[in-house]
Amino acid sequence: MNRPLITYDPRVYDSRLTTKDDIDFWLREGLASQPLLELGCGTGRITIPLASEGFDITGLDISEPMLRRARFKAKDAGVDVSWVQDDMRGFDLDRKFGMIFCPFGTFNHLRHEEVAQCLAGVREHLLTGGYFVLDTFNSNDGDLAPCDDRNGFSSFTRSDIEEFLGSSGFGVTTIFGDYDRSKYRDDSKRLILKASIP
Ligand SMILES: C[S@@+](CC[C@H](N)C(=O)[O-])C[C@H]1O[C@@H](n2cnc3c(N)ncnc32)[C@H](O)[C@@H]1O
Repeated sequence: MNRPLITYDPRVYDSRLTTKDDIDFWLREGLASQPLLELGCGTGRITIPLASEGFDITGLDISEPMLRRARFKAKDAGVDVSWVQDDMRGFDLDRKFGMIFCPFGTFNHLRHEEVAQCLAGVREHLLTGGYFVLDTFNSNDGDLAPCDDRNGFSSFTRSDIEEFLGSSGFGVTTIFGDYDRSKYRDDSKRLILKASIP
């Protein structure tokens, strides 16, 4: 059975989520390969700073209210972003990307059985030599069954994600444990995997 989508009020989201911890991380990752596609871009918290630095970036989100606010903020900042309303579980854009990224737990919106659909889309939209970067909270506590929810979000362990990526044809190249690019450990705060098609 389909789980109902978790929806956000864009203004409440922006007023509560003021973290900038991850922006530098994405700025540096984005340098390696362009253009960029952000899956689940929300109100553009990450998309807009990257566009301000001159990156060619597309932000995809399923929520029109989140995108409406993103467009308004981008206009206010005087930056150009290509915004797309689509579903990361089956998107079809007329373009390929050097880096596709799914930051800040957006991946946790996917049920385990939906992951393969999302990764097929990522694979389809990657340029040769491009890569996918996935950032999620680290659910390595072992107390949760594979498909258990945390407040409606799916949890993923490192091995879950490695398995999903592997069966979709990706090879994992790097795993970070936080935005400071520290090496992943079982007790790391984040689980950030970088993968490409070998
Ligand atoms: C936690 S917010 C993250 C927003 C932004 N990346 C950030 O870091 O501020 C998750 C976003 O994913 C979007 N989302 C959830 N499920 C989605 C889906 N199936 N396809 C596309 N976007 C989705 C939500 O609408 C929401 O804007």
